[in-house]
Amino acid sequence: MQHIDESGGYGKNTVKKGSVYIRTIGCQMNTRDSEVVKGLLSVEGYEMTDDPKKADVVLFNTCSVRDHAEQRVWSGIGLLSRKKNRPLIGILGCMAQNFKQEIFQRARAVDLVCGPAEIDNIALYLEEALKKQDKVLAVDERRRREEIYHTGFYDKRNHAYIVVSEGCDNYCSYCVVPYVRGRLRHRPAEEIVREAQAAVDAGITSITLLGQNVSAYLTEDRVCGFPALLEKVAKVKGLKSLSFITSHPKDTKKELFEAMRDIPVVRKYLHMPAQSGSDRVLAMMNRGYTAKIYRELVDLYRSIVYNGELSSDFIVGFPTESEEDFRATHELVKGVRFDSAFIFKYSARPHTKAAELPDDVPQGTKKRRHAELLELQKSISQSLKHAKTA
Ligand code: SAH
Ligand code: SF4
Ligand code: F3S
Repeated sequence: MQHIDESGGYGKNTVKKGSVYIRTIGCQMNTRDSEVVKGLLSVEGYEMTDDPKKADVVLFNTCSVRDHAEQRVWSGIGLLSRKKNRPLIGILGCMAQNFKQEIFQRARAVDLVCGPAEIDNIALYLEEALKKQDKVLAVDERRRREEIYHTGFYDKRNHAYIVVSEGCDNYCSYCVVPYVRGRLRHRPAEEIVREAQAAVDAGITSITLLGQNVSAYLTEDRVCGFPALLEKVAKVKGLKSLSFITSHPKDTKKELFEAMRDIPVVRKYLHMPAQSGSDRVLAMMNRGYTAKIYRELVDLYRSIVYNGELSSDFIVGFPTESEEDFRATHELVKGVRFDSAFIFKYSARPHTKAAELPDDVPQGTKKRRHAELLELQKSISQSLKHAKTA
């Protein structure tokens, strides 16, 4: 069990318990969760290693957002399980929640399955898995204990990811996240500030606030929204750079742009995924805005945040996406001129609304649209970079 010292932080357990390697797949949420797991296991006496060959325990912190991400994990497990002296294998993160006990049937070598909401007890589950020669399954959906964010463990010496909210309630029709990460829960503002203060006191100067949709942040008493949270964190003495991801267009308002303009340490960078430029597809995606509304929001951002950077995500090949829909996305990318954009081929996901529709855009068409949009974005990114350095 974790032992919490009098200061409320985690005391160090000096007993050596073996070495752990964690492979992280997926978004920055997972990067942060892996840090939390490393922190919790380190205080319990485990040693972290960068070499999977030498590890007694290999944990995969997994992602279910696209099929490809899951395939990488199945093949990773396959490789490990063929080893003679294989390590204990654990599956953490979104695939754990997506497949639950089915993982043990699909991959018999797996010893431990622990969903994202349960990582606060990872030390306990790992100990159980190591002791009893039986499988351990922990996939309850509940709120994590707040203290787990305060072990002070960050991968980088100069940068900290700090979670502001867990889960997501938006139910975009293509997206598995609400089903694997659960309902939206906001951390209390004072806990976020306390974590930021401790990180800066430990020498960190750059912080990124994390949430599936940080723009919707609101404290329980409904007093502190995201712009006010930025202001609070920015007051931490010694902090030099404050970033945040991700902003959903439907919740992103003028006040956020004003905060970006007015608070010097806030990085002038906005990641605000558009997903598509076709109103028909956007409605089917349940995104809650049209291409026109999106463009107006970008205009507002650029009029308030001088020289602000902007990036986006797009999905091509959503069910029923026609050539005309794709052209509308192409137009949006061309018109807005993002500094950068991630472009994904649609992948049908279990539990989601869109998975009930036939995945009817042929692979070849998805591939072509993906390549075309990528090419366009590449040339825009290059010319914008060129203009900035000239
Ligand atoms: N919370 C963030 C993004 C989470 S997932 C947001 O709302 O923007 C990161 C990106 O993966 C999404 O922005 C989307 O572009 C992409 N994505 C999500 N589900 C997908 C799916 N089923 N197929 C392809 N790409 C997907
Ligand atoms: Fe998924 Fe939409 Fe939530 Fe982002 S906002 S995590 S795309 S459901
Ligand atoms: Fe992130 Fe992938 Fe889970 S994008 S929240 S790790 S499904």
